[in-house]
Amino acid sequence: MAGSRGGFSSRLGFIMAAAGSAVGLGNIWGFPTQTASNGGAAFVLMYLVLAFCLAYPAFMAEILIGRYGQANAVTALQKMSKNIFQKRFAFVVGFGGVICAGLILSFYGIVAGWMIAHTAEPVAKLIGSDDAANWLVAFSFERNLIFTALFVSLTIFIISRGVEEGIEKWSKRLMPLMLTLLLILIGYVLTLDGASEGLEAYLNPDFSRIFEPDLVLSALGQAFFSLSLGTSVMIIYGSYISKSENMVSLGAQVTLIDVSIAFLAGLLIIPAMYVAQAQGVEIFAADGSLLSEDTLVFTVLPSLFESMGGVGLFVAIGFFALMTIAALTSSISMLEGPVSYAVERHNMERKKASIFIGIGIFLFSVIIMSNFESLFGLVITLSTKYGQPIVAMLCCVFVGWIWQRNSLLEEIKSGNESVEDGFFWKIWPVYTKVVCPTAIAMVFLHSL
Ligand code: TRP
Repeated sequence: MAGSRGGFSSRLGFIMAAAGSAVGLGNIWGFPTQTASNGGAAFVLMYLVLAFCLAYPAFMAEILIGRYGQANAVTALQKMSKNIFQKRFAFVVGFGGVICAGLILSFYGIVAGWMIAHTAEPVAKLIGSDDAANWLVAFSFERNLIFTALFVSLTIFIISRGVEEGIEKWSKRLMPLMLTLLLILIGYVLTLDGASEGLEAYLNPDFSRIFEPDLVLSALGQAFFSLSLGTSVMIIYGSYISKSENMVSLGAQVTLIDVSIAFLAGLLIIPAMYVAQAQGVEIFAADGSLLSEDTLVFTVLPSLFESMGGVGLFVAIGFFALMTIAALTSSISMLEGPVSYAVERHNMERKKASIFIGIGIFLFSVIIMSNFESLFGLVITLSTKYGQPIVAMLCCVFVGWIWQRNSLLEEIKSGNESVEDGFFWKIWPVYTKVVCPTAIAMVFLHSL
């Protein structure tokens, strides 16, 4: 419950906030595009297996570290360290996560800014301002600057209000709104010509591809990115959960929501691509692979919306608003990582810390925007391909090798008395000790 450092007021509050962090552009954009470029349903199957068998155990490790420590990532990890060497190691891991969250926000804010601009474009068209509409979707420094600033300001606004009044309240408002938009869009797209062909590509697995190393590794990377692992964020969210909650089931519920929303997003995006094809939009690249990533979201889908006529304007608003909301519930958690660190370790006032750190990260985004070609991809690679897996792996190492087993069991038992007799406690400790670190190390080495 809410103590002096704040906390989620209810179980639902945590679920919405953690699912809000997890469900983001990674689910609605990343997952469907990865699915499209990795052969459809085979990727989906592998993703489901890995999300539950590897990402969920690693996620449990992070939220348990937080609830045990009742503090930001660095302090929480240091609480379970026994000597000066471990304490230094704890600092490196915790602070590494905090930096990683900040770096992710610096590029995520730019992308989310594009989403806001694309939401505004059909509105500009509706009021008959075609020049404004063109400006909104053309890549320019000014546009990027304005919309990133707008998005980061929203993030700062929510985080400055604290855990209950900011994160929890807004996650509870925005998540249902996002889900409603998603369901309406799916319902509409599935009625259009070509959608059933897309469904077939999405849901009918080509089993021969399922063990392709590239597919497995992309699926694992996607699952870790999607659960926001390795960024200190789930540690801090874990620290706001009441000691009377059952962590095993809370963690499972958040994972289930995250995976389900990724799956639903696939039901929207992949059929939409085939509908676009039926309308004459090119959806395959020269080498025969499906167009994905930025071309998909900023070229294929907008051409589809355009081909729908008047109703397409509203579909476009709905779609890009969905993306913006999903990004916002994730970005607030990215800012909470560094802010909670500054508040608890350096006694900064929350509002001040949110503004200073938010502006600092925005200034870094401005540097990225000014050197877009060289920096944008680099920051994404550094933070998501290197930073996240390394920190996530080290968190598992902490739980598996440094945290005393008795103390760990006591923490899980709090809110779940009978956990010792169940399946979770038989399997999970070995998982965090051996299986997760090894699997993450494999993904990491592959990305080199
Ligand atoms: N999970 C988010 C998504 O799917 C992205 C993400 C990665 C993230 N790392 C994070 C969000 C850290 C918050 C904090 O889009």
